[in-house]
Amino acid sequence: MDYSRRPAISKDRSTAPLSYRRSRRYEVTQKEEDRFIFKVPMLRNVTRTAPYFNDGKVAALEEAVRLMGWHQLDRHLTSREIQDIIAFLRTLEGNPPFVETRHLRPSS
Ligand code: HEM
Repeated sequence: MDYSRRPAISKDRSTAPLSYRRSRRYEVTQKEEDRFIFKVPMLRNVTRTAPYFNDGKVAALEEAVRLMGWHQLDRHLTSREIQDIIAFLRTLEGNPPFVETRHLRPSS
């Protein structure tokens, strides 16, 4: 997991979904530089892990990709482009390798 240092919000904040307006990180740290900072989730198996975004407000992957294009890339993606991106995201499907956790200490 990584944090996006680019604020996860479009310049048109009035139309940004709630998930882009509230950063839990900021709520915890109260640091101004964390205000629009969100954890960037990995996209492995993203086709199987709906609903999307930190608050699970978006049910369809098509909509999640459309919002990403608009808010993060400032682009109005066409349906064709969205379908092409989803075809790519399908290539990220797979079974994660087994990880032995028996010997790990519980986190405190
Ligand atoms: C075409 C390009 C992109 C695609 C297809 C894409 C796709 C996605 C998807 C499907 C999610 C939801 C993941 C989930 O909830 O499991 C997501 C979340 C996210 N993406 Fe992107 N993304 C793109 C570009 C970007 C860019 C350029 C940035 C930042 C500079 C970015 C930052 C984020 C962040 C911060 C989240 C989490 C938002 C939240 O949980 O509310 N993405 N992305």
